[in-house]
Amino acid sequence: MKTDMERKWWKEAVVYQIYPRSFMDSDGDGVGDLKGIISKLDYLKELGIDVVWLSPVYQSPNDDNGYDISDYQAIMEEFGTMEDFDRMLAGMHERGIKLVMDLVVNHTSDEHPWFVESRKSRDNPYRDYYFWREGKDGREPNNWASCFSGSAWKYDRETDMYYLHLFSPKQPDLNWDNPKVRRDVFSMMNWWCEKGIDGFRMDVISMISKEEGLPDGKVFPGARYGWPNVVNGPHVHEYLQEMNREVLSHYDLMTVGECSGVTIEEAKKYARADGRELSMVFQFEHVGLDDGKYGKWTDRRVDLRDFKKVMSKWQTELSGKAWNSLFLGNHDQPRSLSRFGSDAPEYRVMCAKMLATCLHMMQGTPYVYQGEELGMTNCPFDSLDEVRDIESLNAFKEMTETGTITPEDMLRYINLRGRDNARTPMQWDGSENAGFTKGTPWIKLNPNYKEINAAAELADQDSVFSYYKKLIALRTQETVIVYGDYQLLEPESGSLYVYTRALKEEKLLVICSFTNQEECYELPEEFRSGSILIGNGKREKVEEKICLLPYEALVIKK
Ligand code: GLC
Repeated sequence: MKTDMERKWWKEAVVYQIYPRSFMDSDGDGVGDLKGIISKLDYLKELGIDVVWLSPVYQSPNDDNGYDISDYQAIMEEFGTMEDFDRMLAGMHERGIKLVMDLVVNHTSDEHPWFVESRKSRDNPYRDYYFWREGKDGREPNNWASCFSGSAWKYDRETDMYYLHLFSPKQPDLNWDNPKVRRDVFSMMNWWCEKGIDGFRMDVISMISKEEGLPDGKVFPGARYGWPNVVNGPHVHEYLQEMNREVLSHYDLMTVGECSGVTIEEAKKYARADGRELSMVFQFEHVGLDDGKYGKWTDRRVDLRDFKKVMSKWQTELSGKAWNSLFLGNHDQPRSLSRFGSDAPEYRVMCAKMLATCLHMMQGTPYVYQGEELGMTNCPFDSLDEVRDIESLNAFKEMTETGTITPEDMLRYINLRGRDNARTPMQWDGSENAGFTKGTPWIKLNPNYKEINAAAELADQDSVFSYYKKLIALRTQETVIVYGDYQLLEPESGSLYVYTRALKEEKLLVICSFTNQEECYELPEEFRSGSILIGNGKREKVEEKICLLPYEALVIKK
């Protein structure tokens, strides 16, 4: 072990992400809620996870499913009350599960009192909480595109000025250069910490510091607007260090920054081992490998060689300097199984276990996105009426209206890459609505819930769920999984992902087959007399040459 690799509880933990709207509905309104989560805490305990990351449950008009917050210190009515929240938190703590809250402070809702005030007049005390600018030649103040299509500026007649929204017009960006904004955000964070929560997942935190003068962004060929240069801005580290001094350092927290556009060099600052900023970051390089000319709207697949290259780069370059978060899916990504593997019925179970093995054996803190532990798959959306996500709906409109992509292709791409794939309700059992709700679910259920559901998997020793349980438990038994050094083998193979982990005398060999063909591999000398730590096949002993089944995964201990 590298001597500078300090032990921390959050390095040894496995995190489970709950997207509350789609987790469990207790009152039949078709929307998941806090009481629903409470009713499933024993399920989480059974799985063995250590931490829950809860996507936003704050009061919100739900333009972006809770990522547009109108009151940071109140619970969304559809989800329950603050008493329900307190009961949920206590229920988690009783079971030894920690709670990490989503912190969405790059922007608020336009219905947040700060913005309601801000938009009233040019000299309102809250005016500088947001970015207000004059138009330029009858147009927007600059050429920035919103991440959700169209311009990032909205004209407001009240004061004849534009305000900035990097996401939807109902998500105006907060001006972090204003010390009062930082003071109010920090005091809200302290309030939650005093309640006893255990950390924050910080939404698009790499975007909070905008370049001075808000200069035009680069316009890519065919694009109507320019790409704003807003990640890793000039003061982002300064503001996070201030946040650390004012809030984070006073508690024993786990913090993870959602850092789109983060480079290795930047990640080493955000998540540096001295703890001056955050515990770890989410990087997005591996989930951008299948992007095409129009970003995510494509049918490209990830090439395993590229995937290995990116993952290995993050593994080796952060080692000893900063800490990785390990994820293949979340509420913004399609289902990992459909995207990186195969959801064909004959391979689904093997493949879900293989992907889990490949990820969980790396160095970093693994994240399980709800349903991943069941091997849930992308959902077929037959028409646009079934799509709920603002990003997909806006992109469909823009791409088809400009004639960039045909409606047929766009729907196909939404099926492959749209965020709703991960947002269909949790599949609890084979009964009506998969046991998620007694009412009408807010979004389509994946029709495969009769075959793929928690009840069936809990009862089956060979299920994806049972495998996850073993994998998660293994981390607490083998320190090498947490702290060992990583080394990639066979970088040129387009079908096998092979790597080792080493910690002093202990050494693991991880072999994962990413193909639906049989594939043979000759073991390195030192592992030939090793033993099998975990695997998704029926294999019992180690041989010199191993012929792997389609999507087989194997971990051998020296
Ligand atoms: C993050 C969230 C995503 C949301 C966006 C704007 O990327 O994960 O769901 O739409 O920020 O808040």
